Amino acid sequence: MKAVVSEKYGSPDVLRLKEVEKPVPKDDEVLIKIHAAALNAADWHLLRADPLIVRLMVGGLLRPKHKILGADIAGRIEAVGKNAKQFQPGDAIFGLIAGYGWGGLAEYVCARENALASKPANLSFEEAAAVPMAAVTALQGLRDKGRIQPGQKVLINGASGGVGTFAVQIAKSFGAEVTAVVSTGNLDQARSLGADHVIDYTKENFTKTGQWYDLIFAANGYHPISDYKRALSPKGIYVMAGGSGAQMFQAMLFGPWISMTGNRKMGGVSAKSNQKDLVYIKELIEAGKVKPVIDRRYPLSETAEAFRYLEEGHARGKVVINLD
Ligand SMILES: NC(=O)c1ccc[n+]([C@@H]2O[C@H](COP(=O)([O-])OP(=O)(O)OC[C@H]3O[C@@H](n4cnc5c(N)ncnc54)[C@H](OP(=O)(O)O)[C@@H]3O)[C@@H](O)[C@H]2O)c1
Repeated sequence: MKAVVSEKYGSPDVLRLKEVEKPVPKDDEVLIKIHAAALNAADWHLLRADPLIVRLMVGGLLRPKHKILGADIAGRIEAVGKNAKQFQPGDAIFGLIAGYGWGGLAEYVCARENALASKPANLSFEEAAAVPMAAVTALQGLRDKGRIQPGQKVLINGASGGVGTFAVQIAKSFGAEVTAVVSTGNLDQARSLGADHVIDYTKENFTKTGQWYDLIFAANGYHPISDYKRALSPKGIYVMAGGSGAQMFQAMLFGPWISMTGNRKMGGVSAKSNQKDLVYIKELIEAGKVKPVIDRRYPLSETAEAFRYLEEGHARGKVVINLD
């Protein structure tokens, strides 16, 4: 089968389109023919081993442990292991296979069934591939860490990227009053996704307006944690999903201390692949409450170009790799 392989850490220049052996499912796995995959920031962090701790966290001190990247996939079940019971050959699925060996940038991959769910009926494979990691991150951040409630004032910082476009829609599905922080060119997109209010971060710093939010979800950008704290209501919650290294470091280091010493809660979310959450998101999509936003599509042979584009940090929604 064809796959995009990284034998060493480095820039997208190290990626090679190669013929490699088609995988064979273990007893508890299924073999999937991939129709589309999507890139996430996690892919380029692993590709570059940036930050360095990736080498320890994922394994692969000197060379990548996961030579075929790609966490988000959509495709059809091709074969099932003898203990795999949920899916049949021919079933259309989507899934989040980070934590299950990665391998989505290829024509076939094997995965455990609990990393997969049936593809939303109203989405193409390309659209379905755009969903898993970004939507699961937004859901777990808003619902599990942010304890989102109807009627709350929720602010999404970085609302125009992969995670942010889902966060706006998922927060709306919980009945929140949503403020999206984006740059000038993305104001209309944020409104069209359902944001009640939009703030142009190139013109206004939301942490300095005197406005309070019950929940702030930071998908991208940077503000010091003290600024986020100032913008939180007295019992507000701040959830950091991504953004600058400093933003992540501050959430990890100071978040627990601020949470212990006051009524505001501050911390981060680390998304975990979870079949229940994939099914939850599939139902939101089928109910018309959430839809993926695709910025660009690339064929497998141009995966390196897709990485370069994503790494620029200005994708408007998701970057998809089309295998059909
Ligand atoms: N914690 C987890 O489990 C988890 C899971 C997935 C992702 N993440 C992290 O979440 C972050 C976002 O991921 P993503 O997939 O959404 O990335 P992405 O798609 O690359 O985000 C790009 C978007 O961010 C916006 N942006 C850039 N600078 C901004 C700023 N200063 N203020 C507001 N928006 C800004 C850009 O808009 P403009 O062009 O208008 O600037 C662009 O639309 C990454 O750091 C990623 O590593 C974490």
